Amino acid sequence: MKLPKNFSSNHSLKENNSLKLNYAADYFVSCNSEKELFLIYDFLEEKKIKYWIFGDGTNLILKNNLKGLVIKNNLKGFSVNGNSVIVSAGENWDDVVSKSLKKNLYGLENLSGIPGSVGASPIQNIGAYGSEISNFVNYVETFNLEKGRFEIFSNQACNFSYRESIFKRNPNLMVTKICLDLSQEFKPNTHYEALPKSVKNASEQRKNILSIRSQKLPDHQKIPNVGSFFKNPIISEMQLKKLSADFPDIKNYLLEDKNYKVSAAWLIENAGLKNSKKGDCGISNKHALVFYNYSESSDFILSYSSEVIDIIKKKFGIILEYEPSIIG
Ligand code: EPU
Repeated sequence: MKLPKNFSSNHSLKENNSLKLNYAADYFVSCNSEKELFLIYDFLEEKKIKYWIFGDGTNLILKNNLKGLVIKNNLKGFSVNGNSVIVSAGENWDDVVSKSLKKNLYGLENLSGIPGSVGASPIQNIGAYGSEISNFVNYVETFNLEKGRFEIFSNQACNFSYRESIFKRNPNLMVTKICLDLSQEFKPNTHYEALPKSVKNASEQRKNILSIRSQKLPDHQKIPNVGSFFKNPIISEMQLKKLSADFPDIKNYLLEDKNYKVSAAWLIENAGLKNSKKGDCGISNKHALVFYNYSESSDFILSYSSEVIDIIKKKFGIILEYEPSIIG
């Protein structure tokens, strides 16, 4: 059976996840072309084993060794068509932001500096500083690893919501390409509280965003982390009213559907857990929603985070949900 060139077995995933967890995959392949996609499909059809698609592994918690095939999405390509950019999934997300600005195509500035690959960006509908990728997606092209064929999803078909999409619920859909509709005119989005309200151009906006990020979020290259560890919980108006009686300064945002998004970082900081430590992991002193990890195993970070979930539940009656994907 013909296999792609970069195929290996018993592959350590330590360099493939930003928590630097040292688990191994039975098989590992880097997928560099559409032709290789079909070889991988044939391999999976024959072997009938489990598989996982990896981007840069910046939003992933491994629980165990992976008994199956890890496909590292390494498809490359960037092109411009009018006001749209068409980008392959293995490109780095922040390179795409920077390249589109250089082509005088605007809109992605506020999404500057988000770690990870293009392929992962629509899956969890990446968002920051008042912007989400769903605001720009024209279509997402996928390769269906169960059917062995390409499928295209319009923005509407992607079913985007806060850190959610159809791709999160269908891991057989490997994102291969995305098309983003941008603008030739820079319209600054400066609603986020800490952003300077007056800004000259898009590169200044990008600089401002990168500077806020570096103040708040530790660099995973230096301190292994996955960005926000939990989603910001969404609660009803009634639940917020009850909580506000005990915690009048609880940080919250009104959503279009009349529910409220509560700041998970505020809950964790107000439970006294910011900058706390447990064994080889802990909560950042820069941002209460960021857990760091210095262990090769996820046992500690998963047990500490579940303790945090219990504490928050007892204190505020809110159940925090993990933001990164947990696999294995
Ligand atoms: N806050 C605290 N303590 C802290 C940090 C923040 O109380 O240590 C409170 C502050 O009141 C602050 C509020 O929380 O105003 C919100 O904090 P921040 O603006 O940093 O945003 P966030 O809601 O904590 C979300 C995303 C981030 C994204 C930022 C900026 C989620 C789960 N996280 O964080 O995304 O960068 O907004 O827009 O929605 C990620 O997904 O990995 C990520 C880093």
